[in-house]
Amino acid sequence: MNLDSLGDWERTHDCGTLGPGHIRARVTLMGWVQRRRDHGGLIFIDLRDRVGITQVVFDPQRNAEAHQRAHALRPEHVIGVHGEVRLRPEGMTNPKLKTGEIEIIVDEYRLFNASLTPPFQVESDVDAGENLRLRYRYLDLRRPNIFQNLLRRHHAAQAVREYLNDIDFLEVETPVLTRSTPEGARDYLVPSRVNPGKFYALPQSPQLFKQLLMIAGFDRYYQIVKCYRDEDLRSDRQPEFTQIDMEMAFVNEEQIFKVTEGLLKHLFEKVLGHKLEIPFPRLTYDEALARYGTDKPDTRFGMELMDVTPVFASSNFRVFVQLIEAGGMVKALNLKGQASLPRSDLDKMQGKGNLTNHYDVQTGAQGVAWIKVQESNWQGPVAKNLTSNEKNLLAETAGLEPGDLILFVAGEPSVVNPTLDILRGHFSHRLNLVPDGKYAFTWITQFPLMEYDLAEKRYVAVHHPFTAPAENDLELLATQPDKVRSRAYDLVLNGFEIGGGSIRIHDHALQQQVFQVLGIEEDEAQHKFGFILDALRYGAPPHGGIALGFDRLVMLMCGADSIRDVIAFPKTQKAACPMTQAPESVSLEQLLELSLKLDLPG
Ligand code: AMO
Repeated sequence: MNLDSLGDWERTHDCGTLGPGHIRARVTLMGWVQRRRDHGGLIFIDLRDRVGITQVVFDPQRNAEAHQRAHALRPEHVIGVHGEVRLRPEGMTNPKLKTGEIEIIVDEYRLFNASLTPPFQVESDVDAGENLRLRYRYLDLRRPNIFQNLLRRHHAAQAVREYLNDIDFLEVETPVLTRSTPEGARDYLVPSRVNPGKFYALPQSPQLFKQLLMIAGFDRYYQIVKCYRDEDLRSDRQPEFTQIDMEMAFVNEEQIFKVTEGLLKHLFEKVLGHKLEIPFPRLTYDEALARYGTDKPDTRFGMELMDVTPVFASSNFRVFVQLIEAGGMVKALNLKGQASLPRSDLDKMQGKGNLTNHYDVQTGAQGVAWIKVQESNWQGPVAKNLTSNEKNLLAETAGLEPGDLILFVAGEPSVVNPTLDILRGHFSHRLNLVPDGKYAFTWITQFPLMEYDLAEKRYVAVHHPFTAPAENDLELLATQPDKVRSRAYDLVLNGFEIGGGSIRIHDHALQQQVFQVLGIEEDEAQHKFGFILDALRYGAPPHGGIALGFDRLVMLMCGADSIRDVIAFPKTQKAACPMTQAPESVSLEQLLELSLKLDLPG
């Protein structure tokens, strides 16, 4: 196929803006062939660029040679046309298209490049597997809806910078080749050629560097920054992802909340034209677990969990009584007006396996008990075992009315809460309880500082080991470390954790004490974190910060189902890139150069 060169052609417009106001203008457009239709001696091309689509007409009367050559045009060929804007004939307009009232009648045309037949159609609604789409991501990114997501991401980053620059934050870059930063995931390691046997770790976050910038007197730092974590992937997790990372000196929680709320308000208004109500509501960690069964509750709708342990504590329902006596609890979810839910749906919830299959999680719940509340009687295995007093207490606690279906889960809180959280999520969608276009932010505060890790047989930091303990709980550090609350907070949006941060420890002695309680010996602490421990002794100001998960935030702002849809070149669930085939094995020479030897299983 003979290709033309671009020569001195220059675009006058994009493919999305011409309208009746441009009639008779002579224009030059360039883009990709979306579709070709041969019709009544004319050839129609839908010409596409990132802005839109314009109809282009080849008429043999106007230019016979161009018309002849246009027969060869196929989807994704790249062309330029020069011609005149005219109104489409009566009945031929397309109200769905911004440029639907006009077309370009071609005088001259250049074919810049041909395309192989694409493996899937370049359209918003494409029916292709994700692997194929990621293998040909450059074609996938031509699809208007994916492009719109990335455009929105660009606007979001711009709005973030605008807001933070305006209130005197400095954007500072921090190293990518560094040493392990403890955010709780596995590190990605990079071998050092010049230091045989030594490795850099890619940062799980710039946590320690931003603290060092506060010690350096930078006062207000931010960075839109890539972080790297080797962890199991999900729809809201990628091995490399982006944070809006912030740190401030001389602040407490209130000032950090205020800046974050101001930032998000600006962002949503600027990018979506949506006015957020600030300040955001707050829940303590304990309240969130009690009312929603999770520390990242979706507060767009009610349907809260209820503790009904007292109803069953001395009942005849032995299964529950035994679990309560073993230190467990019973919590319930009232599905208003759902007494007619088919038995088969209730059966689906029974047994460990069923919940697991459905939601890809193992909560360990034995099953879900239920009562269908009817005017004259209550149905279901639980109901028979309750006295009328117990029924009254239950009706009162759970606000029961005829027509309701109430679900119960009993056992340890670590089983009951996640199970009911899943059921609450499931039924919120089934019962259409989630309002469209609502953004429900919630701060979660007063997290525990540490929890006991049974596998590691030691306390581990819930946030990270640089988080300050609550001042009122300091005495408990030595005696009951798991009772100490932290000065950490998360920000939750529509059931997703979109941010987390804390007030940091700025006192060297306290930092050492926390390391000690976490079972990190002095030598080890000095070896791993000596640089920050040293820095804390050179006039570290009180400081704190937060990091927002930028991909998650943009995903929610785009109404996308996965962060992969808002990242230009994401990885699959197996942390691979089907396009570049990364990760890939390396040559023996490269390994030798790095003083590495592989010992692969099998
Ligand atoms: P944290 O670990 O909570 O805090 O991370 C902050 C936010 O980053 C997002 N996030 C992720 N997004 C996509 N893929 C992942 N694998 C992933 N992991 C985390 C989440 C999360 O809320 N240094 C601290 C912040 C601080 O204390 O200031 C930190 O990194 O939205």
